[in-house]
Amino acid sequence: MKLLTLSQCFLMAAPIRLTSITRRASFSSATAAVKFEGGVSMVQGASRGIGLEFVKQLLENNEKGHVIATCRNPNSSSGLIHLKNKFAERLCISQLDLTIESSIEASAKSIKEKYGHLNLLINASGILSIPDALQPETTLNKVEKSSLMLTYEVNAVGPILVVKHLWPLLKVGGASGTERDVAVVANLSARVGSIGDNHLGGWHSYRSSKTALNQLTKTVSVEFARKKDPIACILLHPGTVDTDLSKPFQRNVPQGKLFTKEFSVQKLLSIIQNAKRDDNGKFFAWDGQEIPW
Ligand SMILES: NC(=O)c1ccc[n+]([C@@H]2O[C@H](COP(=O)([O-])OP(=O)(O)OC[C@H]3O[C@@H](n4cnc5c(N)ncnc54)[C@H](OP(=O)(O)O)[C@@H]3O)[C@@H](O)[C@H]2O)c1
Repeated sequence: MKLLTLSQCFLMAAPIRLTSITRRASFSSATAAVKFEGGVSMVQGASRGIGLEFVKQLLENNEKGHVIATCRNPNSSSGLIHLKNKFAERLCISQLDLTIESSIEASAKSIKEKYGHLNLLINASGILSIPDALQPETTLNKVEKSSLMLTYEVNAVGPILVVKHLWPLLKVGGASGTERDVAVVANLSARVGSIGDNHLGGWHSYRSSKTALNQLTKTVSVEFARKKDPIACILLHPGTVDTDLSKPFQRNVPQGKLFTKEFSVQKLLSIIQNAKRDDNGKFFAWDGQEIPW
């Protein structure tokens, strides 16, 4: 059996998806840069790829906004170091490894001490393949406990622990003055995590780890709503994006279907910026369409 490509997984599911989606009234299809108005944002998984691009656009499009970028090895992210040189005052880089809960707690503590609150939390990290350690499965025969546990730990367990530890800081407004009426938690998921959209199979570990992330995020969103916390907790599918994660699987992506990081993040920030309380617990694709569970 051949290795499924990212585009196969995303695109073959598309026609079914179209029957069960709803277009959001508030979503603008324009790709103009989204303007933010102050506030404190945290991007977890910011060393490269989509996470790094989030940090860049949040800094460039918001002259008053502060950004905390977290990653495993801050000193080896040339992209973050470059942004730190440009936005020294407004960018704070913090070490965080999702597999080490104490590093999540330490980041939360330092954010509390430095800023006191958080208006936006983006969990952007994720793993699909790691040379010699993790390969997306093409058949049940290739499913291994180690792959399942690793992808669950990084793609589902870690992000939800980040939400847990940052929850007390998620507030509307705050000293750095954003006028948003909800704080936003955005967890980067993937369309392949949708059970209703799974007509292709394969990629057991990655797919099910994103399904777990979806369920955990949905569960958290119900609790936020019940406690009347002004937080919109959403899941985002970025499309097929040209990053290290998709590189080994880009072979069959049709022309025009492989997005740049810049385009995808512009779209995702537009969804985040327009997020309302009613969006709490929803799973959106890059174009603002809801994805079935
Ligand atoms: N690219 C796509 O086509 C696509 C499609 C659908 C969904 N997504 C999702 O979008 C998100 C971003 O993906 P991407 O394309 O930007 O991937 P990427 O370029 O491979 O970046 C992955 C990021 O995750 C971080 N990470 C991995 N393990 C970590 C850990 N234990 N602790 C903290 N950070 C860790 C990496 O940090 P290091 O530099 O330290 O390794 C890196 O910053 C992921 O959740 C992915 O599943 C991507």
